[in-house]
Amino acid sequence: MPPPRKIIIDTDPGQDDAVAILLALASPELDVLGITAVAGNVPLARTEENVRKICELAGRRDMAVYAGADRPLTRDLVTAEYLHGVTGLDGPDLPAPTMPLQAMHGADFIVETLRNAAPGSVTLCTLGPLTNIALALQQAPEIAAAIAEIVSMGGGFFEGGNVTPAAEFNIYVDPEAAVIVFGSGVPVTLIPLDVTHQCLTTQARLDAFYALGTTAGTAVGELLSFFERYDEAKYGTDGGPLHDPCVIAWLLTPEIFGGKLINVEVETASRLTQGMTVADWWGVTDRVPNVRYLRDVDADAFFQLLVEHIRLL
Ligand code: BDR
Ligand code: CA
Repeated sequence: MPPPRKIIIDTDPGQDDAVAILLALASPELDVLGITAVAGNVPLARTEENVRKICELAGRRDMAVYAGADRPLTRDLVTAEYLHGVTGLDGPDLPAPTMPLQAMHGADFIVETLRNAAPGSVTLCTLGPLTNIALALQQAPEIAAAIAEIVSMGGGFFEGGNVTPAAEFNIYVDPEAAVIVFGSGVPVTLIPLDVTHQCLTTQARLDAFYALGTTAGTAVGELLSFFERYDEAKYGTDGGPLHDPCVIAWLLTPEIFGGKLINVEVETASRLTQGMTVADWWGVTDRVPNVRYLRDVDADAFFQLLVEHIRLL
């Protein structure tokens, strides 16, 4: 087996972030160097605490967890308690964490880790607004050389938006950060709503997590049972979209996804479309391709991968 791929997870848990973290921690193919929390679904004090709750659920009290930005680069924070509940992890009754939070700021951890890393050796996995990554790139642009790839859940084009008709939540919360990341020259893989809306937590799929009969399996079932309620009502589907674990699944099984390298720009000025990811899928502009934009996924294979890995925790 090749050496595990080094990754940093940047996240705003969020039930779907939690399942993504569990998937990563269950994967021997991945070496999680640290986890940085960002304000997003809920304020930073909640997201960093939630990261530690999930690490403890996975039996990884040794994981280095950092708190990063408590607000977007230039805007007021927008949160999503209507979807995630007031804690951000409503659903299971997870104990308050006792493992430590690292003293260093999350963006500083990213800078320091990448400064000491070999060229192209670390993958950044982003599950929330891109504030911490943008701060790190602004602070030390030379770190771009150490990044293998930024794999990011965010945006949407063919599906439209989920927080406004045009914008997806992670990009909407901090569009200026997304502009910096997509313009950094680092290879970016974007996993938009066009993909994640194909990954529905149907009752049969939730049952497979409960059927594991493990603490982690039951917690995933409870997290996703809570998480899907808002979206089931909104979209009228059996199950809601499972967004963030797609980022980790891309690292493990890229063959179940389809997409292509295109230009993606982020709208920051328009009242109606701020935070929109304008994806030039058909190549109708001469703008330089900067993002590998995924559009398809084998959803059954994705959920099979998830269940097989959660089983290992
Ligand atoms: C994204 O927004 C958050 O609510 C989810 O955790 C996911 O990262 C989906 O738009
Ligand atoms: Ca998230």
